[in-house]
Amino acid sequence: MNKVKYLTAPIFYANSTPHIGHLYTGLVCDLWKQINLVMGEDFFLSSGMDEHGQKVFQVAVNNGLNPKVHVDNISESFKKFFEKYNVRYDYWVRTTDEQHKKATQIFWNKLKENGYVYKHRYKGWYSISDESYLDVSEDYVSTSKNIVWREEECYYFKLSSFQEKLVEYYEKHPETIYPKIRYNEAMGFIKQGLKDFSISRPKERLSWGIEVPDDPDQVMYVWIDALANYLTLIGYPDQKYLNYWPATHVVGKDILKFHAIYWPALLMAADLLPPKKVVVHGWWLNGDQKVSKSLNNAIDIDGLTEVYGSDAIRYFLLSNMTLGEDANFKESLFHSTINAALSNKYGNILLRLLGIAENKNIKELKHCELDEFLNNVVNNTKNEANNFVKNISFFDQYIRSFSAAFDSLNNYISENTIWKQEGEQLNNSLYSLLYCFKVLSVLFSPILPECAKKIAKYFDVDLNFKDVSVHKNIIIKEPIVLFPRVME
Ligand code: ME8
Ligand code: MG
Repeated sequence: MNKVKYLTAPIFYANSTPHIGHLYTGLVCDLWKQINLVMGEDFFLSSGMDEHGQKVFQVAVNNGLNPKVHVDNISESFKKFFEKYNVRYDYWVRTTDEQHKKATQIFWNKLKENGYVYKHRYKGWYSISDESYLDVSEDYVSTSKNIVWREEECYYFKLSSFQEKLVEYYEKHPETIYPKIRYNEAMGFIKQGLKDFSISRPKERLSWGIEVPDDPDQVMYVWIDALANYLTLIGYPDQKYLNYWPATHVVGKDILKFHAIYWPALLMAADLLPPKKVVVHGWWLNGDQKVSKSLNNAIDIDGLTEVYGSDAIRYFLLSNMTLGEDANFKESLFHSTINAALSNKYGNILLRLLGIAENKNIKELKHCELDEFLNNVVNNTKNEANNFVKNISFFDQYIRSFSAAFDSLNNYISENTIWKQEGEQLNNSLYSLLYCFKVLSVLFSPILPECAKKIAKYFDVDLNFKDVSVHKNIIIKEPIVLFPRVME
């Protein structure tokens, strides 16, 4: 069997409705999957819901809902949200699925059989908001909220056994964590020394989780349950998972430690390969604060979507954040970006070209060869797409090439004053420019899928490079308005 290229988004906590932060992660994954499809390859993309643990349980109780009913509702709202913005995953995981629970218990047993799990009586401080045991001073405790003293039994994972193995692995495979600053951060953390960490909680305190095998008094720590999703959804422990493994994970920087340290160690402990790659992006900020459920500072994009369409939101989020860095969501910047790049440039070029054809009463354009300039525009953009397929480090360059490519078309129209041309010269200019427009629209369909669908229908082509690059006559139809021009 052919190896499947496997890409994952995080599974999101089912404690609140989705916002632009979740959407951004979904878009990064969708963009990468779709550019693969356009260039003739594919990724199997998963995402879903992290439905266990105290935080999720508490929200259900506060809303007076049975926890399962609560997580069903949240899961639906995330799915609808992703559908609205064309985040096209292949599999939606939910950690309350029976199959996930059983497979996670098998994963646990493997860690135990291999000698990396032990029971220990914990005596110390516990943070309720972080759901974690703390190694902190009295001072810290007296000034922090939600910290309580706990004495209880739970299971531990021998993370300390993996310090050298992780350093060795990452030194040999520095490309595993992207971008480099997150690699350095993870290495710094590992080299400070890794301590064993607790992987279960007494059931009497928290019952909303997966039971520890052979110990009904304990449930698994929610991060063990959550990380295991990446294996359970591809059929682990059935051997078919080997066809997918190892995965490429896309995550926000808030969960770097879990994906770059805990997860590879857990995988090594279960005799599995560490992730192929961990791509770590930054945060969307509102003012200088992270957009987050707990701060309740989500940005309302419903109104903007209604006016400009979902493609405009995709374009803004993807083009206004450098992969790996933080960015601020400013509505004024949104309006100016969309008007400049999409309405006045991309959408306007099509209207101009079809307008000229209409004025000159042209019904059909005969196909011809492109001149060197336009041929280069297509080839350069195709190269950007191919680079991106091969390596995520070309992500920003590919997105930036959108504006550059359409600037080139605009310049060509002006410099050749094509509206003054006639006869064969005009046929060749209009044909060549419209040919470029449709090829570029397909090459950028991962960013603007709704526009690309309209273009593909107009020119009667499929949404892949191979099909769209075939030369054939163009029938002129009614103009299409891709973006409204809106007051800033
Ligand atoms: O951490 N900017 O779930 P979560 C950019 N269930 N991305 C953001 C963001 C922001 N302001 N806010 C959230 C969890 N994200 C766990 C994950 S995976 C095995 C378990 C995105 O609901 C980003 O991808 O808190 C971040 O890592 C993720 O949502 C956290 O979602
Ligand atoms: Mg979070």
